[in-house]
Amino acid sequence: MRIDILTLFPEMFAGPFDASIIGRARAAGVLDIALHNPRDYTTDKHHIVDDYAYGGGPGMVMKPDPIFACVDAVQPMAEPSGKVVLLTPQGRLLNHRVVEELAAEARLILICGHYEGVDERVRESLVDDEISVGDYVLSGGEPAAMVLVDAVARHQPGVLGSELSLEEESHAQGLLEYPQYTRPPEFRGMTIPDVLLSGHHAEIAKWRRRQSVLRTARRRPDLLASAELTADERRMVEQELAGE
Ligand code: ADE
Repeated sequence: MRIDILTLFPEMFAGPFDASIIGRARAAGVLDIALHNPRDYTTDKHHIVDDYAYGGGPGMVMKPDPIFACVDAVQPMAEPSGKVVLLTPQGRLLNHRVVEELAAEARLILICGHYEGVDERVRESLVDDEISVGDYVLSGGEPAAMVLVDAVARHQPGVLGSELSLEEESHAQGLLEYPQYTRPPEFRGMTIPDVLLSGHHAEIAKWRRRQSVLRTARRRPDLLASAELTADERRMVEQELAGE
């Protein structure tokens, strides 16, 4: 997958994109990330990328021309042409389903906003999709782009050790993940559930499923509404929650 990122601060990406999952995906050639600075596509002497808002008000607005010129130059740099995504708190909320959808694209072009926002004409006729990483305002789209790239990279074949990890993790089946333990079996007086030491795979799977369902019911009942539960599981949730 190819991801082009338009940012006024390309240096912000150096650390996060060199380590861990993204670093590995890039090293393996599964993920090709290219950074571009709209400032390099200005035509004025001072390389101005922002200006005052028409109508007045505080803060600066990102000018449309360097962004359009940058996307025009970047699209032909690779095949196929990419879906253009603006990171903005006004976008649709990023969740597991949206990550899967974006991960299926062969190419994305991410635009990181800054200042008070971007000129509306960028949204109107350059951008295909707008994504928010949460209902709060970041000082720029860069951390949001990093979140999106990380989440999407995990879905590329060969990036995780095992494709099974993806299916088991939180949100994959609309549920939160079950509790995980590793050695030692006793730590500061805290033990681990016996069933995990039993070697009985069917029992372990049953325990994990139950923990997943209960944890989701307690922490994120909103997710449970659309999760696929058996009638028995729905009954178990009601009983457990009633007993608390
Ligand atoms: N830029 C500023 N805040 C943002 C958010 N919450 N999501 C995506 N991009 C942003």
